Amino acid sequence: MSWQGACLNQTHESAPIDPAAIPQRKLASGALMPAVGLGTFGSDHVTPAQVAEAVKGAAAVGYRHFDCASVYGNEAAVGALLEHIQRGGVKREELWITSKLWNDKHDDVIGSCRQSLADLRLQYLDLYLVHWPFPNFHAPGCDVTSRSADAKPYIHESYMKIWRAMEALVDMGLVRHIGTSNMTIPKLKLVLRDARIKPAVNEMELHPHFQQPELFKFVVENGIQPIGYCPIGSPGRPERDCTPEDTAPTEDPVIIEIAHRHGVHPAAVCIKWAVQRGQTPIPFSIHNYRANLECVTRDPLTDEEMQAIATLDRNCRLIKGQVFLWKDGQTWEDLWDMSGEITPP
Ligand SMILES: NC(=O)c1ccc[n+]([C@@H]2O[C@H](COP(=O)([O-])OP(=O)(O)OC[C@H]3O[C@@H](n4cnc5c(N)ncnc54)[C@H](OP(=O)(O)O)[C@@H]3O)[C@@H](O)[C@H]2O)c1
Repeated sequence: MSWQGACLNQTHESAPIDPAAIPQRKLASGALMPAVGLGTFGSDHVTPAQVAEAVKGAAAVGYRHFDCASVYGNEAAVGALLEHIQRGGVKREELWITSKLWNDKHDDVIGSCRQSLADLRLQYLDLYLVHWPFPNFHAPGCDVTSRSADAKPYIHESYMKIWRAMEALVDMGLVRHIGTSNMTIPKLKLVLRDARIKPAVNEMELHPHFQQPELFKFVVENGIQPIGYCPIGSPGRPERDCTPEDTAPTEDPVIIEIAHRHGVHPAAVCIKWAVQRGQTPIPFSIHNYRANLECVTRDPLTDEEMQAIATLDRNCRLIKGQVFLWKDGQTWEDLWDMSGEITPP
């Protein structure tokens, strides 16, 4: 079967995939997290209702892990369908639900978490992340040149205030695990030094053209599970997140060739690679979610194919975060501590 044929929109007539067939990650706490989740960021062009329908459809085909965030603007719609899924017989403890603290709520961690819980209609989250380590406000959908007057750099003392509140959420039983996102090695070193409850995961951009080998190795060696966002190279991301230098892993001839060999879409090769490498991809999809889950239950990539993909890294960061810069004259690289030291304020 060609990959085009294999990847026509999923049908709901097909038998569900047994969630027990999905690989699991064991966190430092001993908890198990499904090694593929459904992303829920509609990239400004998919409505909350469409995302919520995808969550419902994805649960019906066997997804149990959902990556949410308050800034995605759809937690209330997603929550209504999470409730529906549980009424349909999926137990709460079978689900893995993540949410994230947005950049303009760093001083209201508990209130923001409670709001996500209310919107998602849950008593607790499995994972709560600090979405970005930079406090700021910018309007959803703003232009790449937009800058926030409130934007601040990473100040470790400020971050630890957030982290203490994150730890309190665990103590209060509102959250089972806490984690970081969009962090770098020097920032994580400080958090690991000072945290009472260490980050269980770090959510980071990961796809064949952006493999972040050093950060990946660092988090794994420190008992932190890497969750990989934009696993397919985010073909539907907003215009503001696209630059002429960006490349698309699904258009890479090596990925396409492997896809032909396996009779799957190149997106499925990216997901298989991610799971076999040891990260947890969270692909977003409203049309292809079944294929994205099914592909990890059969026909793994060979060692040679894994090695071939390892050579494809182009250090091509897609989500650069320009709007979070905090002073004039900076470039997006300043957000990512390229020198190995935290960029000074
Ligand atoms: N922590 C963070 O800062 C952060 C940042 C960015 C993203 N995220 C999370 O990561 C998730 C995933 O990232 P993303 O949505 O930017 O990118 P992505 O998952 O790499 O790409 C999603 C796009 O790929 C298409 N697609 C998915 N599966 C496909 C398949 N099998 N065949 C063909 N096309 C396919 C989707 O279209 P269809 O809908 O048509 O299938 C959608 O346009 C987000 O939804 C969000 O939950 C987190």
